[in-house]
Amino acid sequence: MQIDAIFLHIGVVLIKKSEMNALCKTLCDFWDSSIGKKLIVAVTGVMLVGFLIAHMAGNLLIFQGRESLNDYAYFLHHFLHGMGIWLFRVGLIVAFVLHIVATVSLTRQNRAARSEKYAHEATSRASLSSRYMIWSGLTVIAFVIFHLLHFTVRIDPDLASMKDPMDPSRHDAYGMVIAGFQNPVVVLFYIISISFLCSHLSHGIASIFQTLGFNSKKTRDPFHKLGLVISVVLWLGFLSIPFLALFDLIGDGEKDAPVPMEASVNTELLFRC
Ligand code: HEM
Repeated sequence: MQIDAIFLHIGVVLIKKSEMNALCKTLCDFWDSSIGKKLIVAVTGVMLVGFLIAHMAGNLLIFQGRESLNDYAYFLHHFLHGMGIWLFRVGLIVAFVLHIVATVSLTRQNRAARSEKYAHEATSRASLSSRYMIWSGLTVIAFVIFHLLHFTVRIDPDLASMKDPMDPSRHDAYGMVIAGFQNPVVVLFYIISISFLCSHLSHGIASIFQTLGFNSKKTRDPFHKLGLVISVVLWLGFLSIPFLALFDLIGDGEKDAPVPMEASVNTELLFRC
């Protein structure tokens, strides 16, 4: 009886292992195929564009005033008892990394597949756009790192210690954004990076529709225009904030000055974001 149970257990383990192997093989085959990678780029692209639209819409609450933006920031940090933002962050990081890795791998695969005949012509034609892609890609990555340190980790203690004057128990996201855009060099960096990002999107969004199968003669033009419209709306929406804050066209002067938190709260800097 016991021996039967042991054999049964070994059998189940072996079946599970072979199922796992089959799953791994399917995933590897999917990743190795160019259509698999294109699908990954497209699906993660949809997720990232969705994030950008939602993030811009949330940021625009700044024009409704301090209370609206701070309520929104408070909600983001507290929904699902604070777990929500971490689930969202994990999804965002996975999408961001997969999007970059699949794009780089796809580009390499395509280059390798090019025939010798076109090698010279293709290299000289590709070099300009790939050089542009590398610099625009690096600028966007540098921007994301800087932006996270700026507003999420808040390495500047003046920005980290701002308290909402209406509710001193919570952080003043509104005051932080306005104070964060008082430096023209920072604003210039945002303008350059967001312009690169939106130029990337203006091509990327149309390609997503193409990969997802909406590639007829009839739909190509409207989707191309849709990509352009979304990129321009994101460009204007995002850049309106640093631009207007720099020229004091949003915010209410004195009230935006940092109100320091108590020292004990400041020590929680790393856990807060
Ligand atoms: C100038 C326009 C922008 C403003 C004013 C802005 C503002 C902010 C603020 C205030 C936060 C912190 C939210 C909080 O923790 O309470 C934040 C987080 C973030 N922003 Fe932006 N943002 C802008 C543009 C962008 C762009 C263009 C991207 C993407 C390329 C981006 C990506 C992120 C990410 C990934 C986070 C972290 C979200 C998290 O906390 O998990 N932001 N942004």
